[in-house]
Amino acid sequence: SDREDLRTDFTTLTNDILHAQQCSPEATGDLTILLSTLASSFKWISNVVRKAELMKVIGVTGTTNVQAENQQKLDILTNQIMCNLLRDSGKAAVLISEEDEEAIIIPDAQKGNYCVCFDPLDGSSNIDCGVSIGTIFGIYHVKDTRAPAGIHDVLRAGGEMVAAGYCLYGSSTVLVLTFANSKQVNGYTLDPHIGEFVLTHPKVKLGKKKIYSCNEGNVSKFDKPILEYLQSVKYPPPGHTGPFTPYSARYVGSMVADVHRTLLYGGVFLYPNGKLRILYECFPMALLVENAGGKASTGRERILDIIPDHIHARSGIILGNTEEVEAVEALYKKFD
Ligand code: AHG
Ligand code: MN
Ligand code: MN
Ligand code: MN
Repeated sequence: SDREDLRTDFTTLTNDILHAQQCSPEATGDLTILLSTLASSFKWISNVVRKAELMKVIGVTGTTNVQAENQQKLDILTNQIMCNLLRDSGKAAVLISEEDEEAIIIPDAQKGNYCVCFDPLDGSSNIDCGVSIGTIFGIYHVKDTRAPAGIHDVLRAGGEMVAAGYCLYGSSTVLVLTFANSKQVNGYTLDPHIGEFVLTHPKVKLGKKKIYSCNEGNVSKFDKPILEYLQSVKYPPPGHTGPFTPYSARYVGSMVADVHRTLLYGGVFLYPNGKLRILYECFPMALLVENAGGKASTGRERILDIIPDHIHARSGIILGNTEEVEAVEALYKKFD
């Protein structure tokens, strides 16, 4: 039947991660439990986000985080949801959150073998006006299961993550997930009535639309290569003849929403002047984009090759279709 409510052939996130576990003989089931815990936290957060206006959890708390940003009530609430659920899962050793200055080291009684770096609520500036927001996460396995866990387990190249993803609270709630070794990106839409994430975007590959996405209010701070690239997507390059179609501009201001659109439609997302945080913004998005067939770069090096020197370290990032990112990289070479 083509009636959606009569479908019987759907795949759920639960099924997919159990299947992945069954397919790898060395799997302990720990990652399965950790991912289910993350999925639970996203359902919880989705519910809070959708009721936030009615429950009066809109607005600031009066506190600031380590990056001197004014914390919103939802930043704090979503962070608590994630920290509590992940700690109690028994599968986490270290938690790194945008909203916590220090790493959370899980006590031995509840310690597991994974480190989770997360941005509990991405797009804080969009909460009060009902624009899409999200959660971002990256997962590492601890280096040594017998040694005490610490920040050394996460101050590693992004290429060493085992999995990463985000959950978008948009017109629907969509969880997009990738495993480092799978080279596959899958998207699951939350059916709020059933409480399951249902596979709706299997094997995502970047779209081909010509879209550029950046906060152009910051141009005065952008590097020359970025300025030249932005010019090239708006005006025909020198010597160009024939018709020229300029790129479309789209910028939500929530990284999750801007990256989600880039994955599905294509294009390039740029945040060049080093605001975005490496562990819980740049790395997870870079792994997703690479596994969807694109690239993520600082302009001079591959994002996933960076080794962050502290847990809230930041980087510039350019991600999206390979040809776009390579065009920016070529301009960096030209100007260096
Ligand atoms: P967060 O809300 O988690 O602090 O992240 C905000 C980030 C990201 O979502 C977005 O891409 C960027 O900041 C937007 O920054 P501008 O407002 O400077 O454009
Ligand atoms: Mn913030
Ligand atoms: Mn963010
Ligand atoms: Mn945030």
